[in-house]
Amino acid sequence: METRILIIDDDPFICRQLEELFRAQQYVVSTAHEATAGLARLAEAEHSVVFVDLKLPGCDGLELTRQIRERWPDLDVIMVTGFASIRGAVEAIKLGASDYITKPFQNEDILLSTEKVLEKRRLIDEINYLRGQLADRYSFANMVSRNPRMHEIFSQIESLGQSDATVLIMGESGTGKELCARGVHFQGRRRTGKFVAINCAAFPDTLLESELFGFDRGAFTGAVHDRVGKIEYASGGTLFLDEIEAISLNMQLKLLRVLEERELERLGSNRRIKVDIRVIAATNEHLEELVAKGRIREDFYYRINVVPVHIPPLRERIEDVPLLVAEFFRNSQHSRERDISRISNRALAQLMSYHWPGNVRELGNVLERSILRCGGTVLRDVDLPTAQNPGVSRTGAEVRLGLDYEVPLKEFLRRAERDYLGNLLKRYRGGISNSARHALVDAATLHRKMKSYGLRRETFRGSNTRVADRLEDADSDRQTAGA
Ligand SMILES: Nc1ncnc2c1ncn2[C@@H]1O[C@H](COP(=O)(O)OP(=O)(O)OP(=O)(O)O)[C@@H](O)[C@H]1O
Ligand SMILES: [Mg+2]
Repeated sequence: METRILIIDDDPFICRQLEELFRAQQYVVSTAHEATAGLARLAEAEHSVVFVDLKLPGCDGLELTRQIRERWPDLDVIMVTGFASIRGAVEAIKLGASDYITKPFQNEDILLSTEKVLEKRRLIDEINYLRGQLADRYSFANMVSRNPRMHEIFSQIESLGQSDATVLIMGESGTGKELCARGVHFQGRRRTGKFVAINCAAFPDTLLESELFGFDRGAFTGAVHDRVGKIEYASGGTLFLDEIEAISLNMQLKLLRVLEERELERLGSNRRIKVDIRVIAATNEHLEELVAKGRIREDFYYRINVVPVHIPPLRERIEDVPLLVAEFFRNSQHSRERDISRISNRALAQLMSYHWPGNVRELGNVLERSILRCGGTVLRDVDLPTAQNPGVSRTGAEVRLGLDYEVPLKEFLRRAERDYLGNLLKRYRGGISNSARHALVDAATLHRKMKSYGLRRETFRGSNTRVADRLEDADSDRQTAGA
């Protein structure tokens, strides 16, 4: 956008001088010889800077400055004064002028002052723009991200809200699968209906069935009154089936019927009830593999996997860490209570060099614990728990593995496996067949595991490794060769 400058001065020589000067700088310039004409010009078009002469016919420059600031608070005013009226200039600054210039002036003084004011405006514009982006582009349905793949997911969520297609959300634990499912519901046309979530892994088979389908009184001992199941309850809204890999083959078949017919029978009843549900399922397993192993019915899999959404793990979008930290500070009651809203560069660097097997959820837990340990108002690296802060002394194994006894067993084992594979790949410089042979697994399995842990063989090839690592590699190669 062009930069418009207005000069309000009754001296035609000064007007001409400034006009020529600014035109040469590619600014759009106009002039006015008295206050009313000046105000009219400002009302006609949006200006960036206005030069106001302190002594104008029929109007005092100070009064004009006051009026301009009142009507266009974002406009920068530069006061032009004679030597005698420094006091007036000070007054003008108090009234909100950005700068003042004394006559006679050098062209450089004028340009310098103008540039300074314009630079400040650019910064303010940029901050506003970034703020806007933060609100619009980096955040969607309570999710924040600056990663292009995540932004694709945001738009996917947005359009999915307008349909009733079944969605399968895949991603490691803590990547935001539930948040995403809620996004589809609450940003979509079913938002006025209920969002009903059920964690399929939390119930043994028979209980899951009565949870989902409900029952009529007398269906089984203990069924003393009728009960509406989750599926029926979700009618008109969205049913979120979390951890679907845990559903038994038998239950998959029963669910399949509901998905196909949009009808169900409560336990102990043969009355068919129509349901109007949108289904979103989530899993952190590779369902194709479970199909191959016979743990997931193929027909069920295809019925569920209509629109797949893959949420990338945090380590593949590590640039999100600062944004997530900021978001966490904003939402955490503890950080507000303790007035902690900043993090040191070192602590942030530590968080960005960690591989986050537990993803965003783990980051949240780490920040929560760190805040409780933090003495000041800035979160520092020493406040971080040991696994995320290699600088603090621990036993060797803990440092290497980032052992964290707070996580579930499954997570703990995943971390150990990732570390093991990382070590192998480093030793064989990304060599798949050597690494696979060493680990006694086939190459396909190794590939799959690498993919799931975000390990890329290029990372382990010669050119990217540091010299120290290469020496270490060479050492271990010799040892392997000797063994
Ligand atoms: N992009 C994001 N922006 C802000 N917060 C996020 C984001 N992704 C996840 N979170 C937060 O991380 C936590 C985990 O998210 P969520 O429960 O949706 O993950 P999940 O994939 O369902 O995890 P699990 O597999 O363990 O059930 C929640 O507290 C959620 O608010
Ligand atoms: Mg979840």
